[in-house]
Amino acid sequence: MKFFIDTADLEEIKAAKDLGVLDGVTTNPSLVAKIVQDPDNFTYKDFKDHIARICEIADGPVSAEVTTLTAGEMIAQGEDLASIDDNVVVKCPLTLEGLKAMRHLSGSGIRINATLVFSPAQAILAAKAGAAYVSPFVGRLDDISTEGMALVEQIVGIYDNYRFPTEVLVASIRHPQHVVEAALIGADVATIPYKVIGQLVKHPLTDTGLKRFMDDAAVIRNG
Ligand code: E4P
Repeated sequence: MKFFIDTADLEEIKAAKDLGVLDGVTTNPSLVAKIVQDPDNFTYKDFKDHIARICEIADGPVSAEVTTLTAGEMIAQGEDLASIDDNVVVKCPLTLEGLKAMRHLSGSGIRINATLVFSPAQAILAAKAGAAYVSPFVGRLDDISTEGMALVEQIVGIYDNYRFPTEVLVASIRHPQHVVEAALIGADVATIPYKVIGQLVKHPLTDTGLKRFMDDAAVIRNG
Protein backbone atom coordinates (compact mmCIF):
# COMPACT_ATOMS: atom_id res chain seq x y z
CA MET A 1 0.00 0.00 0.00
CA LYS A 2 1.31 3.41 -0.95
CA PHE A 3 1.58 6.15 1.69
CA PHE A 4 0.58 9.67 0.68
CA ILE A 5 0.73 12.52 3.16
CA ASP A 6 -2.47 14.52 3.57
CA THR A 7 -1.18 18.06 4.03
CA ALA A 8 -0.16 21.25 2.27
CA ASP A 9 2.51 21.99 4.91
CA LEU A 10 5.96 21.93 3.27
CA GLU A 11 7.76 21.10 6.52
CA GLU A 12 5.52 18.08 7.13
CA ILE A 13 6.07 16.90 3.56
CA LYS A 14 9.86 17.22 3.96
CA ALA A 15 9.74 15.37 7.29
CA ALA A 16 7.68 12.50 5.82
CA LYS A 17 10.06 12.32 2.88
CA ASP A 18 13.02 12.11 5.27
CA LEU A 19 11.37 9.10 6.94
CA GLY A 20 11.53 7.35 3.57
CA VAL A 21 7.83 6.48 3.51
CA LEU A 22 6.47 9.13 1.18
CA ASP A 23 4.87 8.02 -2.10
CA GLY A 24 2.80 11.14 -2.79
CA VAL A 25 0.82 14.08 -1.40
CA THR A 26 -2.84 15.04 -1.25
CA THR A 27 -4.10 18.54 -0.60
CA ASN A 28 -7.52 20.15 -0.52
CA PRO A 29 -8.65 23.77 -0.14
CA SER A 30 -9.01 23.40 3.64
CA LEU A 31 -5.46 22.06 3.98
CA VAL A 32 -4.15 24.91 1.79
CA ALA A 33 -6.10 27.46 3.87
CA LYS A 34 -4.31 26.16 6.98
CA ILE A 35 -0.87 27.13 5.69
CA VAL A 36 -1.82 30.56 4.36
CA GLN A 37 -0.23 33.24 6.52
CA ASP A 38 -1.85 36.30 4.96
CA PRO A 39 -5.35 35.29 3.78
CA ASP A 40 -6.14 38.78 2.46
CA ASN A 41 -3.30 38.55 -0.04
CA PHE A 42 -3.22 34.88 -1.05
CA THR A 43 -3.89 34.74 -4.80
CA TYR A 44 -4.57 31.92 -7.24
CA LYS A 45 -0.99 32.38 -8.45
CA ASP A 46 0.23 31.89 -4.85
CA PHE A 47 -1.82 28.69 -4.70
CA LYS A 48 -0.21 27.40 -7.91
CA ASP A 49 3.25 28.41 -6.68
CA HIS A 50 2.63 26.48 -3.48
CA ILE A 51 1.62 23.36 -5.41
CA ALA A 52 4.81 23.77 -7.48
CA ARG A 53 6.88 23.87 -4.28
CA ILE A 54 5.20 20.68 -3.04
CA CYS A 55 6.06 19.02 -6.36
CA GLU A 56 9.71 20.04 -5.95
CA ILE A 57 9.85 18.23 -2.60
CA ALA A 58 7.71 15.16 -3.26
CA ASP A 59 8.69 12.61 -5.87
CA GLY A 60 5.25 11.09 -6.42
CA PRO A 61 1.75 12.28 -7.37
CA VAL A 62 0.53 15.55 -5.82
CA SER A 63 -3.24 16.06 -5.74
CA ALA A 64 -4.38 19.65 -6.27
CA GLU A 65 -8.10 20.32 -6.00
CA VAL A 66 -10.17 22.47 -8.30
CA THR A 67 -11.93 25.38 -6.61
CA THR A 68 -14.69 25.79 -9.19
CA LEU A 69 -18.12 24.18 -9.58
CA THR A 70 -19.11 23.93 -13.26
CA ALA A 71 -17.61 21.38 -15.65
CA GLY A 72 -16.28 24.09 -17.95
CA GLU A 73 -14.55 25.90 -15.10
CA MET A 74 -13.17 22.66 -13.63
CA ILE A 75 -11.78 21.64 -17.02
CA ALA A 76 -10.05 24.99 -17.51
CA GLN A 77 -8.67 25.00 -13.97
CA GLY A 78 -7.75 21.30 -14.15
CA GLU A 79 -5.71 21.90 -17.30
CA ASP A 80 -4.06 24.87 -15.64
CA LEU A 81 -3.20 22.93 -12.47
CA ALA A 82 -1.91 19.97 -14.49
CA SER A 83 0.44 22.31 -16.36
CA ILE A 84 2.29 23.09 -13.09
CA ASP A 85 4.12 19.75 -13.02
CA ASP A 86 3.85 16.25 -14.50
CA ASN A 87 3.18 14.91 -11.00
CA VAL A 88 0.03 17.00 -10.46
CA VAL A 89 -3.15 14.97 -10.15
CA VAL A 90 -6.31 17.07 -10.47
CA LYS A 91 -8.89 16.53 -7.75
CA CYS A 92 -12.51 16.92 -8.84
CA PRO A 93 -15.58 16.46 -6.63
CA LEU A 94 -17.95 13.59 -7.37
CA THR A 95 -20.84 15.71 -8.66
CA LEU A 96 -22.56 15.66 -12.06
CA GLU A 97 -20.43 18.61 -13.17
CA GLY A 98 -17.36 16.99 -11.63
CA LEU A 99 -18.01 13.77 -13.55
CA LYS A 100 -18.15 15.63 -16.85
CA ALA A 101 -14.91 17.38 -16.03
CA MET A 102 -13.25 14.12 -14.95
CA ARG A 103 -14.22 12.38 -18.18
CA HIS A 104 -12.89 15.26 -20.27
CA LEU A 105 -9.66 15.73 -18.32
CA SER A 106 -8.85 12.01 -18.04
CA GLY A 107 -9.57 11.70 -21.78
CA SER A 108 -6.87 14.26 -22.44
CA GLY A 109 -4.34 12.35 -20.34
CA ILE A 110 -4.64 14.32 -17.08
CA ARG A 111 -4.72 12.13 -13.99
CA ILE A 112 -7.79 12.63 -11.80
CA ASN A 113 -8.48 12.04 -8.13
CA ALA A 114 -12.26 11.77 -7.61
CA THR A 115 -12.85 13.35 -4.22
CA LEU A 116 -15.65 13.62 -1.68
CA VAL A 117 -16.73 10.03 -2.37
CA PHE A 118 -19.12 8.60 0.19
CA SER A 119 -20.89 5.72 -1.61
CA PRO A 120 -20.03 2.71 -3.79
CA ALA A 121 -22.28 4.15 -6.53
CA GLN A 122 -20.12 7.29 -6.65
CA ALA A 123 -17.00 5.12 -6.80
CA ILE A 124 -18.36 3.20 -9.82
CA LEU A 125 -18.94 6.51 -11.58
CA ALA A 126 -15.41 7.69 -10.77
CA ALA A 127 -13.95 4.55 -12.35
CA LYS A 128 -16.17 4.91 -15.42
CA ALA A 129 -15.05 8.53 -15.77
CA GLY A 130 -11.46 7.33 -15.99
CA ALA A 131 -10.26 8.62 -12.61
CA ALA A 132 -6.77 7.46 -11.67
CA TYR A 133 -7.75 7.55 -7.96
CA VAL A 134 -11.00 7.42 -6.03
CA SER A 135 -11.02 8.96 -2.54
CA PRO A 136 -13.52 7.47 -0.08
CA PHE A 137 -13.59 9.70 3.04
CA VAL A 138 -13.62 7.17 5.88
CA GLY A 139 -13.26 9.56 8.83
CA ARG A 140 -16.14 11.77 7.79
CA LEU A 141 -18.37 8.68 7.47
CA ASP A 142 -17.27 7.46 10.91
CA ASP A 143 -18.11 10.95 12.19
CA ILE A 144 -21.77 10.38 11.29
CA SER A 145 -21.86 6.87 12.81
CA THR A 146 -21.40 5.05 9.49
CA GLU A 147 -18.64 2.47 9.01
CA GLY A 148 -16.21 4.25 6.68
CA MET A 149 -14.09 1.15 6.11
CA ALA A 150 -17.13 -0.80 4.91
CA LEU A 151 -17.23 1.60 1.97
CA VAL A 152 -13.56 0.92 1.18
CA GLU A 153 -14.24 -2.82 1.27
CA GLN A 154 -17.17 -2.42 -1.13
CA ILE A 155 -15.18 -0.29 -3.56
CA VAL A 156 -12.21 -2.68 -3.57
CA GLY A 157 -14.62 -5.58 -4.24
CA ILE A 158 -16.40 -3.78 -7.07
CA TYR A 159 -13.17 -2.64 -8.72
CA ASP A 160 -11.81 -6.21 -8.49
CA ASN A 161 -14.98 -7.56 -10.14
CA TYR A 162 -14.45 -5.40 -13.20
CA ARG A 163 -10.69 -4.95 -13.04
CA PHE A 164 -11.15 -1.18 -12.98
CA PRO A 165 -7.66 0.34 -12.96
CA THR A 166 -8.74 3.23 -10.69
CA GLU A 167 -6.72 3.10 -7.47
CA VAL A 168 -8.55 3.18 -4.15
CA LEU A 169 -7.06 6.02 -2.10
CA VAL A 170 -8.35 5.95 1.46
CA ALA A 171 -8.83 9.55 2.63
CA SER A 172 -10.01 11.33 5.76
CA ILE A 173 -7.84 9.06 7.89
CA ARG A 174 -8.01 9.89 11.59
CA HIS A 175 -5.89 7.26 13.38
CA PRO A 176 -3.46 4.35 12.85
CA GLN A 177 -6.19 1.72 12.87
CA HIS A 178 -7.66 3.28 9.72
CA VAL A 179 -4.30 2.68 8.02
CA VAL A 180 -4.14 -0.93 9.19
CA GLU A 181 -7.72 -1.64 8.12
CA ALA A 182 -7.11 -0.05 4.72
CA ALA A 183 -4.10 -2.34 4.26
CA LEU A 184 -6.03 -5.45 5.36
CA ILE A 185 -8.74 -4.66 2.82
CA GLY A 186 -6.13 -4.18 0.11
CA ALA A 187 -6.60 -0.48 -0.65
CA ASP A 188 -3.98 0.88 -3.04
CA VAL A 189 -3.16 4.08 -1.15
CA ALA A 190 -3.71 5.63 2.27
CA THR A 191 -3.37 9.39 2.52
CA ILE A 192 -2.31 10.06 6.07
CA PRO A 193 -2.02 13.23 8.19
CA TYR A 194 1.52 13.80 9.49
CA LYS A 195 0.41 13.29 13.10
CA VAL A 196 -0.95 9.83 12.26
CA ILE A 197 2.28 8.85 10.48
CA GLY A 198 4.02 9.56 13.82
CA GLN A 199 1.42 7.53 15.71
CA LEU A 200 2.03 4.53 13.43
CA VAL A 201 5.55 4.21 14.84
CA LYS A 202 4.48 4.17 18.46
CA HIS A 203 4.09 1.10 20.66
CA PRO A 204 4.52 1.18 24.46
CA LEU A 205 6.31 -2.20 24.43
CA THR A 206 8.84 -0.77 21.96
CA ASP A 207 9.51 2.08 24.40
CA THR A 208 9.81 -0.09 27.52
CA GLY A 209 11.78 -2.75 25.63
CA LEU A 210 14.21 -0.15 24.34
CA LYS A 211 14.68 1.31 27.80
CA ARG A 212 15.53 -2.12 29.21
CA PHE A 213 17.99 -2.81 26.36
CA MET A 214 19.64 0.58 26.93
CA ASP A 215 19.87 -0.03 30.67
CA ASP A 216 21.36 -3.49 30.13
CA ALA A 217 23.70 -2.15 27.47
CA ALA A 218 25.45 -0.32 30.31
CA VAL A 219 27.33 -3.58 31.06
CA ILE A 220 29.06 -3.28 27.69
CA ARG A 221 32.14 -1.27 28.47
CA ASN A 222 34.10 0.82 26.03
CA GLY A 223 37.37 -0.71 24.93
C1 E4P B 1 -7.73 14.04 1.03
O1 E4P B 1 -7.64 13.76 -0.13
C2 E4P B 1 -8.96 14.52 1.66
O2 E4P B 1 -9.33 15.78 1.16
C3 E4P B 1 -8.76 14.56 3.16
O3 E4P B 1 -8.24 13.31 3.57
C4 E4P B 1 -10.01 14.91 3.93
O4 E4P B 1 -9.74 14.76 5.29
P1 E4P B 1 -10.71 15.34 6.44
O5 E4P B 1 -11.99 14.60 6.39
O6 E4P B 1 -9.95 15.06 7.72
O7 E4P B 1 -10.89 16.80 6.19
